[in-house]
Amino acid sequence: MTGPGGRSDVATGFLMDNYPPQPVTFVRGEGSRLWDVEGKPYLDFLGGLAVTSLGHAHPVVAEAIAEQARTLLHVCNLYGTTIGPEVAGTLDRLIGVGGQVRPAGEPNGRVFFANSGAEANECAIKLARKWGGGAGRGRYGHGRYAVVSTYGSFHGRTLAALAATGQPSKHEPFQPMPEGFRHVALGDIDAMDAAVDPRIVAAVLVEPIQGEGGVNVPPEGWLADVRRLCDERDVLLILDEVQTGLGRTGDWFGFQHEGIRPDIVTLAKALGNGMPIGACWARAEVATAFVPGDHGTTFGGQPLAAAAARATLAVMEAENVPVRATRAGARLSEGLAALPGVTSVRGRGLLLAAELADRPSRDVAAAALDGGLVVNPVTPTAIRLAPSLLVSDAEIDEALAVLERLVSC
Ligand SMILES: Cc1ncc(COP(=O)(O)O)c(C=O)c1O
Repeated sequence: MTGPGGRSDVATGFLMDNYPPQPVTFVRGEGSRLWDVEGKPYLDFLGGLAVTSLGHAHPVVAEAIAEQARTLLHVCNLYGTTIGPEVAGTLDRLIGVGGQVRPAGEPNGRVFFANSGAEANECAIKLARKWGGGAGRGRYGHGRYAVVSTYGSFHGRTLAALAATGQPSKHEPFQPMPEGFRHVALGDIDAMDAAVDPRIVAAVLVEPIQGEGGVNVPPEGWLADVRRLCDERDVLLILDEVQTGLGRTGDWFGFQHEGIRPDIVTLAKALGNGMPIGACWARAEVATAFVPGDHGTTFGGQPLAAAAARATLAVMEAENVPVRATRAGARLSEGLAALPGVTSVRGRGLLLAAELADRPSRDVAAAALDGGLVVNPVTPTAIRLAPSLLVSDAEIDEALAVLERLVSC
């Protein structure tokens, strides 16, 4: 049964009211296309919020999931499995260590598998607190537990990740927030300098590009300055690559554009191409702060999610998705900038936002959906585009043609 505009009449009254009314109900996807309950096709330029980086129903990923489902879905982390460690090795290789050479076979870092971006960040925050000694019992004779992040950031909805998220309006209904979180303006190195008190700060947590906050790119060199500051004060630098990671910005990771060395990297979204999986990588010396019993999860790194991640990473490497994102991103961003109703385009690779001249982004996104294009209003005045990294030139041109009709009128 369907309602107007491809909206399913399947009773949604059993769901909590967390999300705004959903205008369309999707039932199928393939590549960059989605279909709603009425069979209407859409061009997906949001990718499930930067998740389906290889497009929908990628045959290699689909087959890996089906095969793993027939073989071994789950065992808990009390026992060994083979796929998770393999995926961890691939992530370690892709993250690299900025020129630091370790003996062959020795990991640069170690990975904890989670189930989402928020959980990956929870792991990072707990690891930083353990590394810093926590309040009152640190290796410097005092505890270092505080985390500094930026206003406008988004790190997830669990309580610590929410506290790190630099959006006070999202904290408001859930006060009191956990202690030990500070925020500074993105790109303001003086504010960062003032906030990173080495007596209590264990880590700085930043997105290389703020995704949910509006696709905000910090000034060039800022991240390198933050790295320098962290080095001077022996403070960890955590890169939240949940949205920017795995090729989306035109490099494997957003921090690699700045040539810096991370202490901790968090990932999720694209890692399973739609299968829920998150990961927290930490430099080997930092990772050893965790000992058995410190942190865990029932599902993290289980065979089904790990098989999806292994297949996703294999296709990503074979397709060289960072290069594809750079090339396709240039075409999309030039096309957007040329639209009469667009005042500016920001972002990198295939994580882009188009600032609109005089139409609210909500209206444009709704009209685009009507016209068969999925984008989202990332701020009241800008739409976000995060299509599959395998998007074709023809699909980019098609999306631009839909937007041209909307933003120019
Ligand atoms: C940068 C960043 N970190 C963390 C998260 C939270 O991820 P999840 O929704 O999987 O918990 C998001 C989600 O949008 C994100 O963009």
